[in-house]
Amino acid sequence: MSSYVTKKTPGDTSWFIHDRFGMFIHFGIFAMPARHEWIKCYELISEEKYDKYFKYFNPDLYDARHWAQMAKKAGIKYAVLTTKHHDGFCLFESKYTDYTVMNTPYGKDIVKEYVDAFKEAGLKVGLYYSLLDWHHPDFVIDLFHPRRYEENACEENKKRNMKKYAEYMRNQVTELLTNYGKIDILWFDFSYPDDPKPSTNLLNQHFWPRSWMKGKGKDDWESEKLIETIRAIQPDIIINNRTGIDQDIWTPEQTTPTEWIKHPKTNELVVWESCETMVGGSWGYNRDDTFWRPSSMLIQMLINNVSCGGNMLLNVGPTARGCFDERAEQILADFEKWMKHHGRSIYNCTMAEPEFKAPRGCRYTQSTDGKRLYLHIIEYPNGNLELENLSDKIDYAQFLHDSSEIFFSNQKTIQNGDTITEDKGKCILKVPKLRPDVAVPVIEMFLK
Ligand code: GLC
Repeated sequence: MSSYVTKKTPGDTSWFIHDRFGMFIHFGIFAMPARHEWIKCYELISEEKYDKYFKYFNPDLYDARHWAQMAKKAGIKYAVLTTKHHDGFCLFESKYTDYTVMNTPYGKDIVKEYVDAFKEAGLKVGLYYSLLDWHHPDFVIDLFHPRRYEENACEENKKRNMKKYAEYMRNQVTELLTNYGKIDILWFDFSYPDDPKPSTNLLNQHFWPRSWMKGKGKDDWESEKLIETIRAIQPDIIINNRTGIDQDIWTPEQTTPTEWIKHPKTNELVVWESCETMVGGSWGYNRDDTFWRPSSMLIQMLINNVSCGGNMLLNVGPTARGCFDERAEQILADFEKWMKHHGRSIYNCTMAEPEFKAPRGCRYTQSTDGKRLYLHIIEYPNGNLELENLSDKIDYAQFLHDSSEIFFSNQKTIQNGDTITEDKGKCILKVPKLRPDVAVPVIEMFLK
């Protein structure tokens, strides 16, 4: 059994640490400007101007079953869809606002279609819900708000009541958890409680705040009540920690850790998932962004996360017609090809036991029962690979993609005259000269 233990949390993460690979879907009316899902904030777009997207939103080619099939084929086991992003637009029917998909030309509940299709495909379903809301009249204008530069923003804020907004969130989350059956993950985004300070960070130059502006955190969201509400309806659901209160999972973004992620305060190992974009700069569909990450890099990121005991949530930003970009489809097809033969080194696998240190350019994962060790060869060696602390521990080794045998020899103590080379417990893997034609070759080792 794996010796790594994480603290028990209120929700059920047992399936989550088994499944390892999820799909993030950033969908909304921000797909129409197609320049970033934060566009309302970045370009200070007024309500009136942003309304044109609401007026014309019609993803006529949206086919949730097709999305689910693409995800499933790629080896993805769960998904998280934006039900409301920071612009406040809701992809679901809601009694508490008119600002929903039901009042756009599309006129159908996108969340319902998604939940039904993904469940039908046997995938777990998660819902993303933004704590920020740049549409709601009670959401206090702050450093990220599109109206932050307006002269009367401070006056306007006096009319706004965050308590009412927090109640609105509880009401909507209740709708999301009662109208669609079982939901596996509730993914909140995000808290920024510290008073903002002008920063030299390029991105933050957008946010020169007024002196009276503050960030927002758990007290503004009334996170405790929010979580109570959720647990009363679906006690086992996984909730991420972005409400500012520790629940089940940590969800850092765009990160490639070198070790298991630890709790920032207690230093304990945590259950974690990093979310990653396929394109460089945005989560929503961004027409002119040409910085697509190569599939091999994304596959390596998934391997790396599992090798550090975590999950990966790979993002897709569908177009406003409701389709995945062709480049996203290609990436998913590349995952399909690799996962078909290598899923065994990902699902139900975790960080290898501490005595196993992967050689240069390689990553280990290990099955949670401890019986199988997987060597992912990112830099293919010109010769053999020396594995530490594995002498006499391997029973059998093979390439994972074709189950072809890999020879190995255990290095023994060598006595040569009066010099003794000590047995360092190394094992020499005789890696074939010809690199297999797969994104990342994997050697599966059955331990004694
Ligand atoms: C950031 C962004 C947001 C995106 C999220 C995904 O917090 O605000 O646009 O949805 O990251 O993790």
